[in-house]
Amino acid sequence: MAKIPYVDQDVCISCNLCADTVPEVFRMNDAGLAEVYDPAGASEAKIQEAIDACPVACIFWQD
Ligand code: F3S
Repeated sequence: MAKIPYVDQDVCISCNLCADTVPEVFRMNDAGLAEVYDPAGASEAKIQEAIDACPVACIFWQD
């Protein structure tokens, strides 16, 4: 099964980078925090790019 990413919204600082990098997977919610709306919207490699780029490292793969 494909891996599922999630955002720890307690840590997200609303930098927008993930939504800019992979808009097919991440978006900003009404509270201005990132959320995953389509975990299968992009390749794992592309999602990993967003994980690596997040300045506060609050995007993870679900176990
Ligand atoms: Fe938040 Fe990190 Fe995205 S700070 S907006 S989860 S890149």
